[in-house]
Amino acid sequence: MKQAQDKGFRSRAAFKLIEIDEKARFLKAGCRVVDLGAAPGGWSQVAASKVLPGGVVVAIDLVEIAPISGVMALKGDFRESGLHAKLIEALGSGKADVLLSDLSPNITGIQNVDQARAAELVQSAMMFCREILKPEGVFLVKVFQGEAFSEVLEGLRANFVSVQMRKPAASRGESREAYFLARGLKPV
Ligand SMILES: C[S@@+](CC[C@H](N)C(=O)[O-])C[C@H]1O[C@@H](n2cnc3c(N)ncnc32)[C@H](O)[C@@H]1O
Repeated sequence: MKQAQDKGFRSRAAFKLIEIDEKARFLKAGCRVVDLGAAPGGWSQVAASKVLPGGVVVAIDLVEIAPISGVMALKGDFRESGLHAKLIEALGSGKADVLLSDLSPNITGIQNVDQARAAELVQSAMMFCREILKPEGVFLVKVFQGEAFSEVLEGLRANFVSVQMRKPAASRGESREAYFLARGLKPV
């Protein structure tokens, strides 16, 4: 965390996004980005530094996100219709180029329960892509390796043209965690 603070980031997670984007280069100037599960805001800080000015960053979380320059923060569950309406308003005309999801459920310590909840969040975020992501858009999503892993991967492959796994070095300590980078929504 000290390293993150030294660089002005609110979370160590920021380094994971930087590393993934260094290789994949999907956060481009002018992009419209939605960040799900954004608190405390490390990923949104990184996204803002890449896409602003000219782009849009909307950060969503159940908990309050302290203001980040140029980022619109929305508090609530991304699955609720009220929040959905606010997001559509924030995006203005047009859909998002990039949907980021670093969502994590509240951990109970009961492995089956935690894995099922994490997989549900991925599933909901994936469905969210259908509503707010451009057909050629990019979806970066955190997944937990475990029982539901192959089901999640199958779901991503059914919905996206290309799906690649990323395991940034900054994520090494969290051995069960990995990211999928999915591009291009398949027609329904
Ligand atoms: C690992 S943290 C995200 C860290 C963030 N990417 C960063 O760089 O600072 C996961 C977040 O997901 C949020 N979350 C979990 N379920 C959610 C939901 N249904 N809607 C919105 N946020 C949710 C949690 O409140 C938590 O803040």
